[in-house]
Amino acid sequence: MAILEVTNLKVYFPIKAGIFNRTVDYVRAVDGVSFVLEEGKTYGLVGESGSGKTTTGRAIIGLEKVTEGKIVFQGKDITKKRARTRELNRNMQMIFQDPYSSLNPKKRVLDIVAEPLRNYEHLSKKQEKMRVQELLELVGLSPESILKYPHEFSGGQRQRIGIARAIALKPKLIIADEPVSALDVSVQAQVLNFMKDIQKELGLTYLFISHDLGIVKHMCDEIAIMYKGRHVEQGTKEDIFERPQHIYTKRLVAAIPEINPRHREKQFQFRKEVEKEYDAAYDDYFNKDGLAYQLQKISDTHLVALPEKG
Ligand SMILES: Nc1ncnc2c1ncn2[C@@H]1O[C@H](COP(=O)(O)OP(=O)(O)O)[C@@H](O)[C@H]1O
Ligand SMILES: [Mg+2]
Repeated sequence: MAILEVTNLKVYFPIKAGIFNRTVDYVRAVDGVSFVLEEGKTYGLVGESGSGKTTTGRAIIGLEKVTEGKIVFQGKDITKKRARTRELNRNMQMIFQDPYSSLNPKKRVLDIVAEPLRNYEHLSKKQEKMRVQELLELVGLSPESILKYPHEFSGGQRQRIGIARAIALKPKLIIADEPVSALDVSVQAQVLNFMKDIQKELGLTYLFISHDLGIVKHMCDEIAIMYKGRHVEQGTKEDIFERPQHIYTKRLVAAIPEINPRHREKQFQFRKEVEKEYDAAYDDYFNKDGLAYQLQKISDTHLVALPEKG
């Protein structure tokens, strides 16, 4: 069942100039994207820096004004801020990219993790402490951590604190914006596997934002590839990694570092072919402004941005 449906979402930021500070143009950060998240699944949003991933996530959670389009969450139209009830808000939480700046350094872990609980539930101090300790145990931190401050933890541990806060209210949807990109590679896998574990345990749906295709392959059931505010391709993990159709997707897939030495030569060849095709066929894949075309359906699950035939 669909938990989130985004239709033709646009988020434009005005560019102002001159002594009258007039709007002269817009940054089309998100320029007409549509996608659906199935309950309990992980949907990956991939693209290079500046392609509009974060803005998409922020618009969904209500931190950016929607210029055009529609967002439906749990069957309710939440495009307009005032349509977002408290109940809907609590069911949608965000995990931020940088665990160093997203946790208030002046607050103890108890207060950081208890903050959403205080907004929504009337717990006694004792109940609250118990809930926070349970949450910390769930994310693999000791219950004694409640008295500590963020700087006393490593990056990976801080991200676990951020996750504990995000799941405190038992949300349905979590938007995870590059949740491990600020962490050492050695702890990335731990945090990612832990996110998978709690997903099953709590029945979470993830919108998983990343610029790292390798991580997305590990985490996601369905994937959209984003470029300059548009989706160039959408499909299942298999569609994207085994049958990429858009030249931009092929290029990203070809660039994933190959760990297995026996496949390195094959990948090197693939990369060379893709680069050649990229130069020769650029105009077949992007319009005269260098933007992606509308998505066309090539199978039940697979959509590719190609010019309309005929
Ligand atoms: N508040 C803002 N005002 C103006 N431009 C913005 C704002 N936020 C993001 N942008 C621009 O929108 C584009 C998409 O940004 P973003 O969504 O952060 O991309 P990503 O997360 O994929 O790196 C970028 O060109 C960025 O500079
Ligand atoms: Mg971003």
